[in-house]
Amino acid sequence: MKTINLIVAIATLSLFASCGGGDSTQEAGTAAPESMVKKEAAAPGKDLGVGPIKSGSLGETVDEALAKTGMETFEAKCTACHKMGKRFVGPDLTGVVSRREPEWIMNMILDPELMVKENEAAKQLLMEYSAPMANQNLTEEEARGILEYFRTL
Ligand code: HEC
Repeated sequence: MKTINLIVAIATLSLFASCGGGDSTQEAGTAAPESMVKKEAAAPGKDLGVGPIKSGSLGETVDEALAKTGMETFEAKCTACHKMGKRFVGPDLTGVVSRREPEWIMNMILDPELMVKENEAAKQLLMEYSAPMANQNLTEEEARGILEYFRTL
């Protein structure tokens, strides 16, 4: 029994090891233009997207009243394409705040057309979902409410 466990452990480890190795080879092998490399280095790990929102701040704790308004806006304007907890016309938005910057989310809500044209992550999503997200013409305040609602999920 013990030997089998050990074999499984070693097999799993070597799988991880080869995955890691694969990634770095791929990175090293990607012939990215100089300008692209520099741009990425300038803002490490922070993809704010493109659009009207350049910076913002979230409160330490969730503003419950704002989140409630946001939920109402979401239900009125977004559920035609987004269902919580599962993929629909658009992605499942549960946990979106942990995979995207707040500014990115607001820009996606306020100007999805520009985002899928100029932001790499949004372009990828468009390719994956092959349907464009519709601009719901929300105000910045409404989008901010939805962002607050997302923080409660
Ligand atoms: C017509 C359908 C449609 C409507 C309406 C819509 N979306 Fe989307 N949404 C999408 C699709 C499809 C994507 C994936 C990107 C793409 O294909 O353009 C997306 C992507 C997103 C993303 C990025 C998700 C991720 O995984 O990073 C967010 C955030 C988002 N939508 C929020 C909203 C909000 C908030 C509303 C309401 C104001 C809304 N969407 C209305 C279809 C829609």
